[in-house]
Amino acid sequence: MTKIISFISRKGGSGKTTNAINLATSMHDLKKKVLLVETDPNYTLISSRKIDVFKYKLNESKLFPIVASSDDEIAPELETLISSGQYDYVIVDSAGKTTDQGIKELCLVSDMVIITTSLTQNDLLVAYQTVKDLKPAEKLNPKLKIFILPNRIHSHTRIKTVRDTLANLDVEMFDTFVPQRKIFTAPSTYKSERKYRCITKTILEKL
Ligand SMILES: Nc1ncnc2c1ncn2[C@@H]1O[C@H](COP(=O)(O)OP(=O)(O)OP(=O)(O)O)[C@@H](O)[C@H]1O
Ligand SMILES: [Mg+2]
Repeated sequence: MTKIISFISRKGGSGKTTNAINLATSMHDLKKKVLLVETDPNYTLISSRKIDVFKYKLNESKLFPIVASSDDEIAPELETLISSGQYDYVIVDSAGKTTDQGIKELCLVSDMVIITTSLTQNDLLVAYQTVKDLKPAEKLNPKLKIFILPNRIHSHTRIKTVRDTLANLDVEMFDTFVPQRKIFTAPSTYKSERKYRCITKTILEKL
């Protein structure tokens, strides 16, 4: 059964794209059949993949696909993908500017929504608002699991500190965080980052 994991946050730059691609390459490494869908009209990942293929002379048919979609089309496209059963996981990287309607539709078809946030005051406020906006979708879609993924956290921070800082958000948090690291700033679109593996494992355990 295909599982849909959507990265959603109203905050631009909170780490949706960074985590979506790291999760996808990591899952591909675990021999999962993965499709990465980008709804952000900047299409950063699709462009990065083209560059990787050209630069490293890769055989694209051996890589997991990265495809474009849009707020209007994503929900019916995901329904079709689920019924085709072609993929184990579909990862959706949405745009910070996604409309309310777009977010709602994505939540209704997703198994898991991951809200990325740092611990800065600004990010926390937006994460709080994003959780509030998404919560009603849990009633409409009983399979939906909403999680906070703390991102860009100083690597020496204790998980308890992260938990305490995020305690006001009425939502589950993964038992791990993504540290602020240079290796995560320019992720490969085909090679997994070893240091992301434990995060992938934690996400898969909660699905
Ligand atoms: N864990 C991390 N460590 C270091 N840099 C990070 C990390 N996560 C994100 N970044 C950097 O922060 C910036 C914003 O990240 P990213 O593009 O993933 O955010 P986004 O939520 O997809 O933004 P948008 O809403 O604009 O699409 C990028 O320059 C990225 O390299
Ligand atoms: Mg992005």
